[in-house]
Amino acid sequence: MINRNRLLATIRAALRRSRVVALIGPRQSGKTTAARQIVAADSPNYFDLEDPAGLTRLAEPMTALAPLKGTVVIDEVQRRPDLFPVLRVLADRRPLRARFLILGSASPELQRQSAESLAGRLETIALAGFSLEELGAKALARHWRRGGFPPAFLARSDADSLRWRQQFVHTFLERDLPQLGINVPATTMLRFWTMLAHYHGNVWNAAELARSLGVSEPTVRRYLDLLTGLFIIRQLPPWYENLKKRQVRSPKIYFRDSGMAHQLLGIRTEHDLLTHPKLGASWEGYAIEEVLKLTGPSEAYFWATHTGTELDLLIFNGGRRYGVEVKRQDAPHITSSMRTALSDLRLDYLTVLYPGTRRYSLDERVTVVPLSELAEGSPEVVVPHPSRRKRPSRGANHVQGRARGNGALLQK
Ligand SMILES: Nc1ncnc2c1ncn2[C@@H]1O[C@H](COP(=O)(O)OP(=O)(O)OP(=O)(O)O)[C@@H](O)[C@H]1O
Ligand SMILES: [Mg+2]
Repeated sequence: MINRNRLLATIRAALRRSRVVALIGPRQSGKTTAARQIVAADSPNYFDLEDPAGLTRLAEPMTALAPLKGTVVIDEVQRRPDLFPVLRVLADRRPLRARFLILGSASPELQRQSAESLAGRLETIALAGFSLEELGAKALARHWRRGGFPPAFLARSDADSLRWRQQFVHTFLERDLPQLGINVPATTMLRFWTMLAHYHGNVWNAAELARSLGVSEPTVRRYLDLLTGLFIIRQLPPWYENLKKRQVRSPKIYFRDSGMAHQLLGIRTEHDLLTHPKLGASWEGYAIEEVLKLTGPSEAYFWATHTGTELDLLIFNGGRRYGVEVKRQDAPHITSSMRTALSDLRLDYLTVLYPGTRRYSLDERVTVVPLSELAEGSPEVVVPHPSRRKRPSRGANHVQGRARGNGALLQK
């Protein structure tokens, strides 16, 4: 078992604050496993609606739920949307007898219904697969290659992991989407998904994708929003500053799970990955996702001008502007693009994430940081409070050339 203590603590804290907590996330991300660590599966307070017995126990929901005390779990709640009005009544009782932890796949429809019925009573926690923090720095190469879905990460071999991911995509298209009431032919969706994998890390281009798929631009836009709502894709919004420069105004597209992107790109082994043209994009997407897991739902953007100046991530946090650049290099140095981003965007601080093993500063405001430091689990790695900035290791200020390469990281 991989320990997900921080996730469990987040759920417990939410249950202390809110009368209903929704744990949502893609299929197979570990929702049920986490909920069972909060309420045992054989407890009378646990209802699994995927199980016919669970459905039967909830045939008369008010009668079944009203007497329960403590925390009540309802797994696969999307199967019974009629429960929401019941939960609302139960959550409004005074004194409060029970709090509810509801679990479901992240269907946009489910989110809309629950938000409407439970307005003001509901707190949502979005779950993804394992994070680097949960797995530790040593797992970085494997985590990047296989992705964070528990069965994909934990599989005995890369081949088993790949087969699991293939099956996941297949089930998702053939079973999950129709079950969520989404009626797009599986073959069309698979083509769209595969094309998107080639856009991983690129700016969204609706016209090009619509042309290749033979559908309209609003239709590809709808598909994209669908996969975003289901936590498969991240759309990183563009930031534009009031400058006399033309800036990119479309979102950037990333697969949230690197292993899923690799599967769709046909990357099977470590060698495939390290020689693939999407290597840089994959590394960047992985880093960005791990950063955003740590910083939480802060405002995050990318920035790019039409002349090629770029910043991978711009994060607004505590009234300050933080930049993050991801470099797959042995010893990154300051580039003119970084200097422009620092001045045009008035960054307070810029972190350059790289595969090496030691941190060093390039400038008063610019620090090069090993990506593996994200495993420490502190948002301060990328959004340091000015008074608590970590000092780079001694003598490292001017030794870009001495920063160790990434060889060690690429081994299993
Ligand atoms: N912390 C963990 N350590 C090891 N394995 C885990 C962990 N969490 C989940 N898994 C494994 O991952 C798989 C999916 O987990 P789980 O059933 O909890 O996910 P889920 O999000 O409820 O999936 P579904 O949406 O299909 O119901 C299971 O095989 C489970 O054993
Ligand atoms: Mg489950």
